[in-house]
Amino acid sequence: MSCVSAQTLKEGTDFEKKHVPMIECKNSVKPDEIYEVKIHTAGVEHPMEDGHFIQFIELNVEEYPLLRVQLTQHSKPDVVVNIKAPNEEHKGRTIKLVATMFCNLHGLWKYEKEVIIE
Ligand SMILES: [Fe+2]
Repeated sequence: MSCVSAQTLKEGTDFEKKHVPMIECKNSVKPDEIYEVKIHTAGVEHPMEDGHFIQFIELNVEEYPLLRVQLTQHSKPDVVVNIKAPNEEHKGRTIKLVATMFCNLHGLWKYEKEVIIE
């Protein structure tokens, strides 16, 4: 599995940018806040055609599975989901969102983003 950091991604190749499941969301949220998380390729569209396509996208909060979307060559590898921040007891903590994306030819790719609970 390839895990690419946000910094690496800025200077990354088009090959990396079309496989990395970039997470787009607020950097900090309030306890119990519902917030939107978008997962998409990092700036370069991945082909979605017979024989080469993204098969699934997953999102974990820390090690807990939150979402898995199965795709075919007839889909677009973008996901938007609303998730609920942890409660008041977690105020001041940071949670880690972990997205993975699987290409049937180029394997599993991972991206992580930290979100602060204000
Ligand atoms: Fe690919």
